[in-house]
Amino acid sequence: MITYNENERVFKLDTPNTTYMIGIVDEENFVGHIYYGRKLEDTDASYLMRTGEPPFVPSRNNRERCSFYDCFPFEYPASGLGDYREGCIGIRTAGGHAGAVLSYVSHEIMAGKPGLEGLPATFGTEEECTTLKLLCEDRYVGMQVELLYTVFHDTDVITRSVRVTNTGTGHFYLTKVYSACIDMDNRDYDMVTLHGSWARERHIQRKTLGYGIQSVSSFRGESSHQDHPFLALVDKNTTQENGEIYAMNFVYSGNFRAQAEVTQFDYVRMTMGIHPENFCWKLESGESFQAPEVVMVYTDKGFDAMTAAFHRLYKKHLIRSEYRDRKRPILINNWEATYFDFNTEKLLSIAREASKLGIEMLVMDDGWFGRRNADDCALGDWKVNEEKINGGLKYLVDEVNKLGMKFGIWFEPEMISPDSDLYREHPDWAIAIPGRPGTESRQQFVLDLSRQEVVDCIYEKVASVLRSANIEYVKWDMNRQLTDIGSYGLPADRQGELYHRYVLAVYQMQDRLTKEFPHLLLENCSGGGARFDPGMLYFSPQIWCSDDADAIERLEIQEGTALLYPLSTMGAHVSDCPNHTVGRVTPFETRGIVALAGTFGYELDVTKIPQEDRDMIPGQVAMYHKYNDLVREGDYYRIASYSQNHKFDCWQVVSGDRKQSLVTFVQVLNRANFKSRRILLKGLDAGKRYNVSFVNDDNIEDKVYSGEMLMKAGLLVPNPWGDFRARLIFLDEA
Ligand code: GLA
Repeated sequence: MITYNENERVFKLDTPNTTYMIGIVDEENFVGHIYYGRKLEDTDASYLMRTGEPPFVPSRNNRERCSFYDCFPFEYPASGLGDYREGCIGIRTAGGHAGAVLSYVSHEIMAGKPGLEGLPATFGTEEECTTLKLLCEDRYVGMQVELLYTVFHDTDVITRSVRVTNTGTGHFYLTKVYSACIDMDNRDYDMVTLHGSWARERHIQRKTLGYGIQSVSSFRGESSHQDHPFLALVDKNTTQENGEIYAMNFVYSGNFRAQAEVTQFDYVRMTMGIHPENFCWKLESGESFQAPEVVMVYTDKGFDAMTAAFHRLYKKHLIRSEYRDRKRPILINNWEATYFDFNTEKLLSIAREASKLGIEMLVMDDGWFGRRNADDCALGDWKVNEEKINGGLKYLVDEVNKLGMKFGIWFEPEMISPDSDLYREHPDWAIAIPGRPGTESRQQFVLDLSRQEVVDCIYEKVASVLRSANIEYVKWDMNRQLTDIGSYGLPADRQGELYHRYVLAVYQMQDRLTKEFPHLLLENCSGGGARFDPGMLYFSPQIWCSDDADAIERLEIQEGTALLYPLSTMGAHVSDCPNHTVGRVTPFETRGIVALAGTFGYELDVTKIPQEDRDMIPGQVAMYHKYNDLVREGDYYRIASYSQNHKFDCWQVVSGDRKQSLVTFVQVLNRANFKSRRILLKGLDAGKRYNVSFVNDDNIEDKVYSGEMLMKAGLLVPNPWGDFRARLIFLDEA
């Protein structure tokens, strides 16, 4: 619900358990942030803006206007006039100047939620959410800024975005435009962020918030392996189950910056938006710029509650694919099985064996097109290599279909190899600084998708392959980050638009693809999990989590990913051993149990793995069919974290009716002479009784316990024998 109290000039935005308040102040109608936190009944909280303290408001004390600007809690701060904290919006007028401050003009409160032009965004019906449009302006610049807030009625989430319009007569440049800001008191917070690298994405970091600016960001042209568009400020005492959290997550797949700035007065300004590095957007008179959406979550109930809010929102109000609520076909991908060395016969031999074991889809990865026999050529030449795919693509797909399996294919549409027919024909289609040799990465360049002719040409190449056979799945990859930011297609004063135009074009292409092929299962990927973000989830219900499928490395990757994203979105496969990334040997059973927490599939050559591993596949397939509804739709809880305790990992899912639950326990290194572990379960119905069975260990007898006992006293999990051992525990109402 959203209300406006005209006397107090206060907006109050309520979700089920939280309140957000905005106030209009002084004759100049400054827009201030009042409050975000536990739900309030009272609206009279304007005192929190401290306008009753020196330096007071400008109408009372104009001599200290600068001090006012520097301490007022702005709802959407600009800069250059006295607020020395970092602002959310930067402009450069035709005259070359930069100062701005925003004043309230008008507002509108409406049922539902408008879409954001060209951008992915969360959505909801008129019953599910309410939106506030707050129109502000700087009349000296000739700029209007529309702040959009949506509250969801069934989830403790507020989304925000910003639209800037040039209402003047000439042009100006936007040099920065963040999407959200909260100016509040720093109550000794910690900062939680996600970091990593290729093959070890999204590890959780928590550190003390200090004075000055602390940020997490990417200007790699994508959300990245290295940093993640997520920032949470949390109370020192916040745990999984208790404590305050202010969290922001960005519905965007390009450059971002999330930042907390602690000031001289112990205030903190928390912001998120497009990274200003090399961003400069020209707005002609009458033109607008739409900034992407930020999802904000507040809770005083710890990380479990924060995670629940994000999962719920993304499951119900972000992912659109018809696969969202469906079991995904169990796939086998040939990448780690064959790399580039395959042909029709080899693929069919894998498919034949896989189909006997219950695997439901063959995915042909990199290497099927052009002269692509290594990663040094042919990106852009999206024509089937009939020397390898002898008999043609349709023949291969039909043969796979005859085995009762679906067929999927890999593309990397955004790229161009210097050694490709496409590049020889269109050297100016690569992103490059004219006159400077381009910087190669994985021996490839990035296509200049700011040019519509490039987008149309590549889209058509991809779509015509998809039209040529019964292809039911696409893995859309992106294997290098952006450099050499320059476009042959943009004028000099629009080169600073390239990064964002690139992301808009990726969205446009995926939008076209999912509209033309509405039944396609799309899986996004970027050198593993470099573009695992809410922007991509709008187009694909699943994203490849990481190129590292080692069961132990995956514990941290999947913990960090599941902090925000539903298990149904996490691409997870069983791969071969020794693991191709870390060389570790883990039991096949454990690899299966860890992959069951995601979309589940295989990434190995079933014709070559040891017989005893192959023999386990039908059992794993059966487990997937038995438990996937629960994993996909259930509520997720983190029970223990290997990244914190360095001993074991444990997570749990519980069905909506709380009749069933699945607990995964993974012991990393075994310890000599150790007893069972006592773990406290969560989310059960205290009054129900549950039959507890250890799915992968017949020697442990089933037992019945009450939900109360399991949650308060705990379950004893016998110590598994050996390293890297997992236990899957199923609870069913007795
Ligand atoms: C990326 C992907 C892999 C695989 C290769 C192919 O690294 O993450 O899964 O598809 O590209 O080149």
